[in-house]
Amino acid sequence: MTNENITSVLTEKRTFAPNTDFINQANLIKKEYERLLWKSGTDFEGFWAELAEKNIFWFKKWEKILEWNEPFSKWFIDGKTNVSYNCLDRHLKDKSNKPALIWIGENKEKRNLTYRELFVEVCKFSNALLKLGVKELDRIVIYMPLIPEAVVAMLACARIGAVHNVVFGGFSKEALADRINDSKAKIVITADGGYRRGQIVPLKTNVDEALKKCSSVEKVIIAQRTKNKIEIKSDRDLWYHELISNLPADNPAKELDSEHPLFILYTSGTTGKPKGILHTTGGYLLWTTITSKWIFDLKDSDVYWCTADIGWITGHSYAVYGPLSCGATVLIYEGAPNYPDWGRFWEIIEENKVNIFYTAPTAIRAFMKTGDEWIKKYDLSSLRLLGSVGEPINPEAWMWYHKNIGKEKCPIVDTWWQTETGGILISPLPGVIVTKPGSATFPLPGIFMSVVDKNGKEVKPDEGGFLVITKPWPAMLRTIYGDDERYKQTYWKRIKNAYFTGDGARKDKEGYFWLLGRVDDVIKVSGHLLSTMEVESSLVSHPFVAEAAVVGYPHDIKGEALCAFVVLKQSANTDHHLFSEELKNHVSKEIGPVAKPDQIKFTESLPKTRSGKIMRRLLRDVASGKQTLGDTTTLEDVSVLEKLRAEEEE
Ligand code: WTA
Repeated sequence: MTNENITSVLTEKRTFAPNTDFINQANLIKKEYERLLWKSGTDFEGFWAELAEKNIFWFKKWEKILEWNEPFSKWFIDGKTNVSYNCLDRHLKDKSNKPALIWIGENKEKRNLTYRELFVEVCKFSNALLKLGVKELDRIVIYMPLIPEAVVAMLACARIGAVHNVVFGGFSKEALADRINDSKAKIVITADGGYRRGQIVPLKTNVDEALKKCSSVEKVIIAQRTKNKIEIKSDRDLWYHELISNLPADNPAKELDSEHPLFILYTSGTTGKPKGILHTTGGYLLWTTITSKWIFDLKDSDVYWCTADIGWITGHSYAVYGPLSCGATVLIYEGAPNYPDWGRFWEIIEENKVNIFYTAPTAIRAFMKTGDEWIKKYDLSSLRLLGSVGEPINPEAWMWYHKNIGKEKCPIVDTWWQTETGGILISPLPGVIVTKPGSATFPLPGIFMSVVDKNGKEVKPDEGGFLVITKPWPAMLRTIYGDDERYKQTYWKRIKNAYFTGDGARKDKEGYFWLLGRVDDVIKVSGHLLSTMEVESSLVSHPFVAEAAVVGYPHDIKGEALCAFVVLKQSANTDHHLFSEELKNHVSKEIGPVAKPDQIKFTESLPKTRSGKIMRRLLRDVASGKQTLGDTTTLEDVSVLEKLRAEEEE
């Protein structure tokens, strides 16, 4: 972190007000929004009590709302509830035959599970876990493709008070072993394999390899998906379908303490080993439930699709817990957006009449790059709301999403949050807030955030600074699993009396929040701190550019200079040398000479983590080591990919 404030250079003037039809049917309307804001400001605990009472089923009501010993919080003290009960049992009366899950396989298979069917599956599987001796607080690793059994496994753990630790199915055996060992998991639930772009991912084989390094695991449960040949260790391995056959289709949900751990999810740190983010029961459930209702405006008739895998927090909070707790119909899709072709997502929307679609900017930019023909082939008229998550969405991508997918009628909710925050904290409310492309707008009622300098002092409007959260919130992480000290150091020591998000932001004169990316993606050029994201945004606003990543490299005069990695649209047929000059001038014109990249490297693709975040650290190496690397195609180089893998698995 540096002393100076971040110079914010992006100016976006377009605004989009919610339309009357949407307002008239919205779950949250302006008057109620204003009441909630007022209440959270004047009676913080009363605000949370009211929401918890209205939205969650409690076996036993809490005694006290909040215990706050910074940085440790407890919510709804002595309340008893169960996440699985809230996602399943409480819907059985009215929604027993309503589809809870619509699952689409990569090979176009489809399975529907009603609330009743999902309930039965979860009960059976939780009975299986109990039979294997699983106790409350035991850690269970879930390493699976996105199939219904994965969701069942999560809910089954929640039902009996076991703590799940989902490891993304795209992670390697080393990453898996680290996560098993750090959480000392007793059981691993996996599948024989998973499909990814027509290939089989050998999940069970990876588990076999990983377990050579793990001593805590007693049993491995295998769901059948690909039917490829796998080795079975008879004293350790069990087939999912055999295990649940003949088990009772009922199993009362355990009455768990509000602070009972629900899951651990690992997220990569800027340094060192991944952090096991710990979330608990009552507060997390409440916040994912009400944010689903408010932000996605879920209605009983909606088909809701969040494209995230359950290996990420978005998959936890907004493909499973939040929407199921609201009794929604949730679509999940096993495969890649471009398999067998770039029309896949649009085909799924057309066939299933998806109403609400929540995806990531990286996917949106990939779709921009492939052109509009794929979209024009399908009927997207069922869509009524679009969401974005995971990175700043640049205004051009926002506008593209708005025009081509939303057909200028769907509100877009640009949702800012983190694995650590458990649920969305900054987002437009679709029936209330006037949006500005590229801004996530305002913190939600109950959430107190600000943009500060390194001393914790609020910066002036339109000045960049550090994004912090100044009051506890119910879905906040409770700690880093097994490492309270790291939790304190990482989030609470850098800015006084606040949780530091690690992101830069600015508030404009109207109080809108503009996210500027991670602060370690901030570059100082000629005395100005620039957010790489804003320069990227400007590059992407050029009609030939599909995607861009900007990093700094050491420069004799400027301190740091900017290097832009640019992916051109397929339709762009230009002389790279000439176009490079044109692009530099474009940025110079759009933002100012200070932001003009010193170098532009054209590339076919950008190195990304498997969750789609650009690995800027890797690009920084390429940018500063240019003598040895020479040309612009190095990113496709195997050595770069190896590095990328190494970073992911640290
Ligand atoms: C970034 C993903 C801008 C941010 C849910 C945050 C965003 C990090 C947005 C957390 C957004 C997420 N606009 N930036 N709408 N959403 N981010 O833990 O830098 O995978 O700190 O959680 O993603 O990433 P994580």
